[in-house]
Amino acid sequence: METPVFLRACRGEPTPYTPVWLMRQAGRYMAEYRALRERVPFLELCKTPDLAAQVTLEAAERLGVDAAILFSDILLIVEPMGVGLEFSAGDGPVIHRPVRSGQDIGALREVPPEESVPFVFETVRKIRGSLPSDIPLIGFSGAPFTLASYLIEGGASRQYLETKRLMYQDSGAWNALMDQLVRAITAYVNAQITAGAQAIQLFDSWVGCLAPQDYRTFLLPHMQTLIQGVTPGVPLIHFGTGTAGLLELLAEAGGDVIGVDWRIDLDVAWRRIGEDRSVQGNLDPLALFAPLDTLRQQVQRILDQARGREGHIFNLGHGIVPQTPVDNVIALVDMVHEFSSRQT
Ligand code: CP3
Repeated sequence: METPVFLRACRGEPTPYTPVWLMRQAGRYMAEYRALRERVPFLELCKTPDLAAQVTLEAAERLGVDAAILFSDILLIVEPMGVGLEFSAGDGPVIHRPVRSGQDIGALREVPPEESVPFVFETVRKIRGSLPSDIPLIGFSGAPFTLASYLIEGGASRQYLETKRLMYQDSGAWNALMDQLVRAITAYVNAQITAGAQAIQLFDSWVGCLAPQDYRTFLLPHMQTLIQGVTPGVPLIHFGTGTAGLLELLAEAGGDVIGVDWRIDLDVAWRRIGEDRSVQGNLDPLALFAPLDTLRQQVQRILDQARGREGHIFNLGHGIVPQTPVDNVIALVDMVHEFSSRQT
């Protein structure tokens, strides 16, 4: 069988058109999802393989995207560490017992993911069993910095004060936390691969708050260990936001594909990342609120910046927001396919 278009683009091989998928392609902007959520709380949804698989499959089919993504959340692997996770309506995720010291970090539990989050792998198997063979399934994890920021802050943060305080003041505790997260994430994504995930995305959503030198000192070695530990041959997408000051470092850390947000032009980003890598991005998710003519121009601009080169995966620069008109999302996927289709 032919390699699916999305996987070819991850590997920098020629494709008949530019593949597209969208971060948060399953979620509250879809009426079907909102209806399901009236009945089922978010965490329960993530832990019920039949329902989580259904959400993944419905979104991929409805949008006509070139890849599906596991329906789950990056915080599901921190819950079994014993910190008390809750998704409260309005406030987003809350960690009831945040870690702030070496002692807190030493008390974090370390359980093999097959035992602590078996429902994730069951969901992966269910999705893979129902997904068309030309649509690959992307598994994912939060990256160490982004997961640490939730563990330490206890929720969303503006300045990452507690995270940086620990990083600067207690490098022993910081490195112990990074080591533990790297072990957990490696085991987690490799178990997703065993269950049927065909690519992995690491979400380092909040890493853009770091100075380049601090990324190099406090994070780069850990990211390299993590990425080198992922099962070889499975494309790894390394994504962050606000990373215009860090792109060379993200590339140095590793990944077959580097995910880029909209705050930088794609051609400029690609030059800095290096032509040996594939890139993913980079439409502003809020461009989905623009009139379709404007949306068309924006899609065309990004495709022009990619110049039809091998190794571009079209995506947003961050997730779809809940208020987004679903018709515009469908239109976007069609536009990418239409504008990029080339004779091969
Ligand atoms: O992309 C997909 O369709 C797959 C599913 C997915 C979710 N979260 C579902 C979700 C993925 C890949 C994530 C990753 C995630 N989760 C990240 C990294 C990506 C990013 O957006 O930066 C982060 C930082 C989280 C943590 C998280 N989970 C937050 C901050 C929130 C609240 C957001 C909000 O607007 O309320 C969540 C909840 C969440 N994760 C929802 C969904 C569909 C909404 C929950 C609901 O239905 O009420």
